[in-house]
Amino acid sequence: MIQLFQVYKSFGSKNPALLDISLTVKKGEFVFITGPSGAGKTTLLKIIFCAERPTSGNALVDGRNLNRIKDQELSLLRRRIGVIFQDFKLLPRRNVFENVALTLEIIGFPLSMIRKKVHQTLRYLSLVNKEGYYPPQLSGGEQQRVAIARAIVNDPLILLADEPTGNLDPDLTMEIMALLKEIHIRGTTVLVATHSQELLKDTTRRIVTLNKGRIV
Ligand SMILES: Nc1ncnc2c1ncn2[C@@H]1O[C@H](COP(=O)(O)OP(=O)(O)OP(=O)(O)O)[C@@H](O)[C@H]1O
Ligand SMILES: [Mg+2]
Repeated sequence: MIQLFQVYKSFGSKNPALLDISLTVKKGEFVFITGPSGAGKTTLLKIIFCAERPTSGNALVDGRNLNRIKDQELSLLRRRIGVIFQDFKLLPRRNVFENVALTLEIIGFPLSMIRKKVHQTLRYLSLVNKEGYYPPQLSGGEQQRVAIARAIVNDPLILLADEPTGNLDPDLTMEIMALLKEIHIRGTTVLVATHSQELLKDTTRRIVTLNKGRIV
């Protein structure tokens, strides 16, 4: 599903963000990406989402080479990738329904279909009674569930989650992790970036550790 060959990413400063990364993630896998702050976790996820391009090396996602992909093909591919990014926040002036519906509106789904899919997803994440709330009126855990709803509403092939439990207390962390597991069981390939050792403590999942841009 995801293949990286000797990916190198530099932002111009002395030390590159990613160095010689080769990684294969199979369809239906659940992989943790870990490592200290600045190790390159977010950059790696951004390369996969094509929000950043490799400085050198190749990245293949769902069979497409991201160095050669055309804009139109890229936007189709991105529709199949759900993202929960640290710097990709909910829109504060749109309510829960509108935040989750946005991706589907951009794709151009008919309104009836949008309503159906959004309601289904909000029901699944126990957010139905918050549909009309605005993000500032929600708790941290609720906001994170809305971010997950937005990422999965279009049944993605791949879910990329960057520190999905970042500011949450232990109970909410467990809840979010259980949700990600369920989404994985439904067939989505899931990559979770986290620096939390707590999250990895008892896991049997594959763990990829980065340090200073390298896989260790
Ligand atoms: N847009 C950018 N411009 C310049 N440097 C960047 C940019 N994005 C990331 N970097 C640098 O690349 C390195 C890796 O950053 P990245 O955000 O991938 O780390 P991370 O592992 O996600 O860290 P954290 O756990 O703190 O989120 C850092 O040294 C960072 O300063
Ligand atoms: Mg990061």
